[in-house]
Amino acid sequence: MSEPLAPDHQHTPAIRVMLMPKDTNAMGTIFGGIILSYIDQAGAIEAYRWCSQQLVTVSMHEVEFLAPVFVGDVVSFYAETVRIGRTSVTVQVDVEAERRVRGEGRVKVTEAVVVYVHVDGQRQPTPVDRRPPELPEG
Ligand SMILES: CC(C)(COP(=O)(O)OP(=O)(O)OC[C@H]1O[C@@H](n2cnc3c(N)ncnc32)[C@H](O)[C@@H]1OP(=O)(O)O)[C@@H](O)C(=O)NCCC(=O)NCCS
Repeated sequence: MSEPLAPDHQHTPAIRVMLMPKDTNAMGTIFGGIILSYIDQAGAIEAYRWCSQQLVTVSMHEVEFLAPVFVGDVVSFYAETVRIGRTSVTVQVDVEAERRVRGEGRVKVTEAVVVYVHVDGQRQPTPVDRRPPELPEG
């Protein structure tokens, strides 16, 4: 069931993209893996705010596809840090499609929680450098 969003989403999206016919599955809608790839990128852009070295994705969970994405939709990926651990950053990503071609307005299509780990040059976990004041370590 699609969930309409308020017209003025509070955040600036980490990524905004128009999806093309090359991104479709056999049903003619956008392949879920394409959306997951953008979710991973959007979450990483957010997580890098707190980290000076490399990040790797360790888990992607609570992924829910709520409504299809169609060719020509303009899709926004909103990313918000929800937890900072010792070496990990957890980001909530909400995905909204603007159905310009179909004239159906904006619809929340997917949400996910992604966990990144800050790693050093030997790919070993290393402490996160910075954290937003409202998110103490925990
Ligand atoms: C990410 C990686 C470095 C973690 O190594 P590890 O030996 O498990 O490290 P640790 O046990 O010390 O855990 C490090 C952090 O990751 C978190 N973590 C580990 N596994 C997790 C999981 N499945 N889900 C959520 N968080 C996880 C830990 O809670 C810890 O966070 P904290 O320091 O904030 O408390 C290692 O698993 C790895 O290199 N994975 C491959 C990552 C990758 O290549 N991703 C791209 C996929 S194509």
